Amino acid sequence: MNIVNSELKEVIDSIRAYIELDKASGIDEFFMRERGTQRAIDNTNNLESLKQEALNCRRCGLHKTRRNVVFGSGNPNADLMFIGEAPGEDEDIQGLPFVGRAGQLLTKIIEAMGLKRSDVYIANILKCRPPNNRTPLPAEILECEDNVKRQAELIKPKVICTLGKFASQTLLRTEIPISALRGKFHAFNGIKVMPTFHPAYLLRNPNDKRLVWGDMKKIMKELDIKCPNSSK
Ligand code: URA
Repeated sequence: MNIVNSELKEVIDSIRAYIELDKASGIDEFFMRERGTQRAIDNTNNLESLKQEALNCRRCGLHKTRRNVVFGSGNPNADLMFIGEAPGEDEDIQGLPFVGRAGQLLTKIIEAMGLKRSDVYIANILKCRPPNNRTPLPAEILECEDNVKRQAELIKPKVICTLGKFASQTLLRTEIPISALRGKFHAFNGIKVMPTFHPAYLLRNPNDKRLVWGDMKKIMKELDIKCPNSSK
């Protein structure tokens, strides 16, 4: 018997001995977990500990004014993840991302893609609301960005859609303007990233909705999502 076979025999013998022992103590059924199920459980556990870190975070001044930490919501095993800038007032009150006016538009975009919010995962670069919805400070982004990057690595979506300048430039570590970044796939740790305009910008510039829809169609093609209301 070669080494590989003898090692294999040893493993089989030890499993047999283990099963015999269980049988002797009255156990006669065994349940095996599917690999995918195990990954989903591990993912949820790891995301939960990342969430606890965010809930306890006092690394920047925003912890003093926040009502809630807005960690993120949705499917922890999603193929598509959206990353926005920072919670606004509605998000700060509810502890959930994108639930205000910009969030309602994002929900419409997701539904136009034939998906539900519960199919995707939604998070922000900052987990706490900047007072009066001012834009994030570089120091706040520096303290917070590691959390969302680890969040993305755990979820491992096939595509991340970054919403607006702050999310796109932070994830892609670039200062290229959003108008030049959007519409093309980039990469973050092996994950495809599609930057697009922020829904709050679209509320002020509705003519650019068609550009965003073009970006969403590229994501749908990548994820093999058939366009609803179309036979294509
Ligand atoms: N804008 C964001 O970038 N994130 C939210 O959660 C809400 C509005």
